[in-house]
Amino acid sequence: MTLSSVTVVDHPLVQHKLTIMRERDTSTKSFRTLLREISLLLCYEATRDLELTTKSIETPLQTMQAPTLSGKKLVFVPILRAGMGLLEGMLDLVPSARVAHIGLYRDHETLQAIEYYFKAPEDLSDRLVIVLDPMLATANSASAAIERLKEHGARNIRFVCLLAAPEGVAKIRASHPDVPVYCAAIDTRLNEKGYIVPGLGDAGDRMYGTK
Ligand code: PRP
Ligand code: URA
Repeated sequence: MTLSSVTVVDHPLVQHKLTIMRERDTSTKSFRTLLREISLLLCYEATRDLELTTKSIETPLQTMQAPTLSGKKLVFVPILRAGMGLLEGMLDLVPSARVAHIGLYRDHETLQAIEYYFKAPEDLSDRLVIVLDPMLATANSASAAIERLKEHGARNIRFVCLLAAPEGVAKIRASHPDVPVYCAAIDTRLNEKGYIVPGLGDAGDRMYGTK
């Protein structure tokens, strides 16, 4: 199997907004707004190769064969909690998408992902499934989410995040080589507590003001 691709979305607007998000004094409100704005731009890249078909339409001037999306509706899968911050921007661009939810948190000692919730549409096998989480650190959470989705039949999966650590990218490529990754930046490293450095801190806490 070929190794999954990693796409860094280096659009100037994404990079500018990401810098503001990283700053420690950026407010909770701004952090959420910027994440939503960036998610729209990440969605644009992650759906760039969606398949099209054509249909016959009437413009005010004539009939034409016009492009339209083919296939079944996409499924977005935010990893709770912080993945919710990417969802609304994605739905702004693809309003008809289905949404699955997976609840995972990292055990602070072991950094293993603990699952507490899963709810997905039944027919995942013939849909494009896009997993959302702002942070790919150890990739334990992303790998567990992808594993669970595969158990439920998903075969065409992509992972969209804001920041990735090189360690997390390596792990996803090893554990799920079929899953392309889209992110705004790959940072330097993980620290001893499993946080991305320089990073932006704890994404969930910064989104919801819980610390
Ligand atoms: C954060 C983040 C990811 C996970 C990434 O969630 O939103 O889900 O950590 O780390 P990993 O790649 O090492 O697994 P967290 O566990 O803090 O839960 P929360 O979203 O509920 O705050
Ligand atoms: N989860 C976060 O929210 N931030 C990190 O840096 C790593 C994991």
